Parts: sequence; C-alpha cells; structure tokens
Amino acid sequence: MKIIMLGAPGAGKGTQAKMIAEKYGIPHISTGDIFRANIKNGTELGKEAKTYMDKGLLVPDELTVKLLLDRVAQKDCGNGYVLDGFPRTIPQAEVLDKALSGLGDRIDYAINVDVPDENIINRMSGRRACLSCGATYHLVHIPPKKEGICDNCGQPLVLRDDDKPETVKNRLQVYHEQTQPLIDFYTAKGVLKTVDGTQDMQDVFAAITAILD
Ligand code: AP5
Ligand code: MG
Repeated sequence: MKIIMLGAPGAGKGTQAKMIAEKYGIPHISTGDIFRANIKNGTELGKEAKTYMDKGLLVPDELTVKLLLDRVAQKDCGNGYVLDGFPRTIPQAEVLDKALSGLGDRIDYAINVDVPDENIINRMSGRRACLSCGATYHLVHIPPKKEGICDNCGQPLVLRDDDKPETVKNRLQVYHEQTQPLIDFYTAKGVLKTVDGTQDMQDVFAAITAILD
C-alpha cells in the first residue's frame, strides 16, 4: 500500500503517519525528518536545507526529489510506504507519478488531514521533537513520560527552529501557495480522502483506518 499524507504544517501528518506505519508494517518516510537528521549530523545537504527551512521556505526540488526517489527504491519499501511531507509541489508529484507509472505502479491513497490555520500556530508552539528518532510530542496533548526526554530513545526533546510563530506563518503561506494545489491533483486521480484533523488523534486515526482497511 502506497500512501501520501497531505495537510498544512502541524496538521498531524507525522503523528498519523507513524501510527499507519506501525499498524500496516510499512516504512514511514518523512523528508522533513531526513533533512533534520542531516542538519543534526552537519552534512552538506543539511547545511543547504537549513537555509531554506529556517525561513519556512521549501527546499528546492533538485535537492528533494532524488533523495526521495532513492529512498523509495530501497528494499524495505517493497510492500509500500507512507510518505509524509512529500510531494509538496506539483512538480514533485509529477516526478513521483512518472517514476511509479514507469514501474506499472501508482499511489493508492492521498490522505488530507484537514486542520484550519487558526488551530495550527497553537499546536506548533507546544510541539517538542526528538531530532534523533523523529518522535513528536505535544506539551499538553501528547506529553512525554519524562519531561524533556524522548520516550523512545532517551535523547533530549527540542522546539524545532522552524516552529517559532513568525516562521509558522510563512510555512502556512507556502503551504497554501505551493502544496494545497496537490489536493486537486490527487482528487483528479481519484485517490484523495479527507479526514477532520481537529479531532483527538485516536479519532483521526480511526477515520484513516476506516479508509485503509
Ligand atoms: P516537515 O517536517 O514535513 O514539516 P511540515 O509539513 O511543516 O509539517 P510538520 O512536521 O510541522 O507537521 P505535521 O503535520 O507532521 O504535524 P505533527 O504530527 O508533528 O518539513 C519541514 C521543512 O522541511 C519544510 O518547511 C521545508 O522547508 C522542508 N521540506 C520537507 N519536505 C520537503 C519537500 N518535499 N520539498 C521541499 N521542502 C521540504 O503534529 C503537530 C503537533 O500537534 C505535535 O505537537 C503533535 O503532537 C500535535 N498533534 C498532532 N495531532 C494532534 C491532534 N489530533 N490533536 C492535538 N494535537 C495534535
Ligand atoms: Mg511532521
């Protein structure tokens, strides 16, 4: 099963993608997590990506597309995957579409986690992330067992550099301009499903599994 998560920054794509990956035994691939791991490790890709991410801008397609196509060609993707944060532009979606159709394949579901902008800024300021394993928490909604420490790997949790309110506003604007058109793109392909992302995360997940099962 090949699944794409769509939705504004902070809509809960990562939260839901992890739950989907676990339930269906497929890898969760987040381009944002891959960039953040590169930033943490000080790679050239990380240094370049950071200049865009810190401003709330998209990393250029030249840097993003090859990275993603290499990742989905790996062995663990044989039974499918859940993509979180890719595609984010129409050109990215077209490249993925072409690569898949070359293999006689296609995306099965594009799940749009719908959350209005008003809810987003509040969610982001409470988010805490683990830059080692990619786990995400929320100070109020999903707190870690031990304050400031990742439940999974014991590393410290941080406020992401791009979660400051000014940057979140830019990310929302970029989302509406460049990513929202993907909703029409996947509607036209007959694979778009929208779920109400303002519900409790378990209820959002129940709505998603009702689609996938
Ligand atoms: P990326 O890491 O993909 O960030 P994003 O799309 O902005 O989305 P987020 O990760 O911020 O939010 P999310 O939807 O995953 O929400 P989460 O589950 O964490 O990308 C970051 C940057 O990398 C981009 O700005 C860009 O520069 C670059 N980039 C990445 N991919 C790219 C690409 N393909 N092309 C170009 N550039 C790219 O939830 C948010 C918070 O809410 C959490 O605290 C969570 O605990 C909480 N929460 C989740 N669900 C609920 C709920 N139902 N109720 C209450 N709280 C909830
Ligand atoms: Mg995320």
